[in-house]
Amino acid sequence: MVEPLGLGLGITMVVIVVALHYTKGTEWRTPDDISQEVLERRAASVPETDFPEPMNRSIGGGGAVAVGGGGAEGELAGDEDEDEGFDPASIADDEVEYFEIEYVNEGETIEVANNETLLDAGEDEGWDLPYACRQGQCLSCGGKVADGDAHEYVQHSNNETLAEDEVEKGYILTCTAYPTTDFSLETNETP
Ligand code: FES
Repeated sequence: MVEPLGLGLGITMVVIVVALHYTKGTEWRTPDDISQEVLERRAASVPETDFPEPMNRSIGGGGAVAVGGGGAEGELAGDEDEDEGFDPASIADDEVEYFEIEYVNEGETIEVANNETLLDAGEDEGWDLPYACRQGQCLSCGGKVADGDAHEYVQHSNNETLAEDEVEKGYILTCTAYPTTDFSLETNETP
């Protein structure tokens, strides 16, 4: 004997379960992938350059921004090079000139060629002059022209350390400074 109430409850539960089974939940859609668009926008914001950029574009231009900044620095360095880029090797042997340089602290005056650094010339005398990099990249070899603006007495083959106004005050890097006239030099002087 089938109990009508039990049968009714059973049918109702089956219907509810079937209905739940087919009911769709809140649909979740995968967001659009915008990474390529972002990369392209970043790449478009980077100025074009004349040199190959093997990695910069492929990473979306972030690296290219850095390279662009480097380019700007390169231009600055280039400007400095125009001022400082004296090449002593460009002086022919028969055009070498000698100048009387008074090394004040050493108490002597010696002849220094215009293709010889003031540091080398002093060391040739046996003086223990200060230096470190010998490439114009630090301040260890600093010296000072006693009479004023160093531009009028020396030219540097490289100066990555002294600011323009410091050179105007007479400071030089003896490791990369070549004399262009006679003068008095105070060694071991830095700004
Ligand atoms: S020794 Fe470094 S700048 Fe002269």
